[in-house]
Amino acid sequence: MAERVKTSAPGKLVLFGEHAVVYGYSCIVTAVDQRMEVTVSLRQDKKLLVKANQVGVTRYDRDLSELGRGEVPKAVSFIEFLIKNFYQQYGICVGLNVFTHSQFSANFGFGSSAAVIAALALALSRLFSIELSQIQLFDLCFQTILDVQGVGSGFDAAAAIYGGTLHYAREERAVEPVEVSNFPLVVGYTGIKADTPTLVRQVAELKRQKPKTVEGVFIEIERIVVKALQVIKAGNFAKLGTLMDKNQKLLERLGVSSRELEELMRVSRQEGAWGAKLSGAGGGDCMITLVADKIRKEVETAIEECGGEVLQVKFGAEGVREE
Ligand code: MEV
Repeated sequence: MAERVKTSAPGKLVLFGEHAVVYGYSCIVTAVDQRMEVTVSLRQDKKLLVKANQVGVTRYDRDLSELGRGEVPKAVSFIEFLIKNFYQQYGICVGLNVFTHSQFSANFGFGSSAAVIAALALALSRLFSIELSQIQLFDLCFQTILDVQGVGSGFDAAAAIYGGTLHYAREERAVEPVEVSNFPLVVGYTGIKADTPTLVRQVAELKRQKPKTVEGVFIEIERIVVKALQVIKAGNFAKLGTLMDKNQKLLERLGVSSRELEELMRVSRQEGAWGAKLSGAGGGDCMITLVADKIRKEVETAIEECGGEVLQVKFGAEGVREE
């Protein structure tokens, strides 16, 4: 048994299909090259100690017998529940130090929670020499997401585990790699942190009030996802941009866009972008815009002048790995 293991998992950006994916439709997601690092080591006592400076956790400790009980602070809840689930499943009760370090801000909507549990699940499997397949890692992470936030499609865990660019559908846990040679995307962060479970519940409430309309929107989003897969294959970015705009319009009908997101999209299109949409839950976080290389600089400047932050990321990054 190893004494100490370090792993990392990538963040993600949704390209098409957010929200509908929660209801069994599919989405396209890409892993980004900014990673969450997790180091685990054994302790002599029966405690869990967590240090996660990027989310303000300088020191959090818990008796193993208390894992997942009572009030668990939000910043450590994913870590605590993942360990609880892993320990229960494999009959382990060993003291543990967990240190995390993120290369990206938890505010971006890059899926830091999914990345941290994917990296942690791999770290635990290596620490205790329990060989886990990617699907087993996924099931452990998805269960933890549902335990902590009650809602979610698991696509972010899939991106963190498998990496690359994926076509994901929750029902079949189907993960299909999407071949993309070059994705000329610009990512603009609004500076506003969105809360995914709140937005997912907001859409659920709209669906309760207007089931036919919302179901109709999901069906249209799914059509766009399927079309986007063909268009990506053909490398037709102008057409892909049009699909992004269409997907954005449908997200607006779900009420998850925001003024700040729309401003960043507006200036991008004004500079000649092929298309733009929000990426993720909406309400803030990031927008993505597809642009030809020759106007990339102008679009980036326009986003910054409009109060956004341009995030320099590469797409299709490697999934969870031991460092
Ligand atoms: C959030 O990044 C994307 C949503 O579809 C939620 C999910 O799929 O878990 C809104």
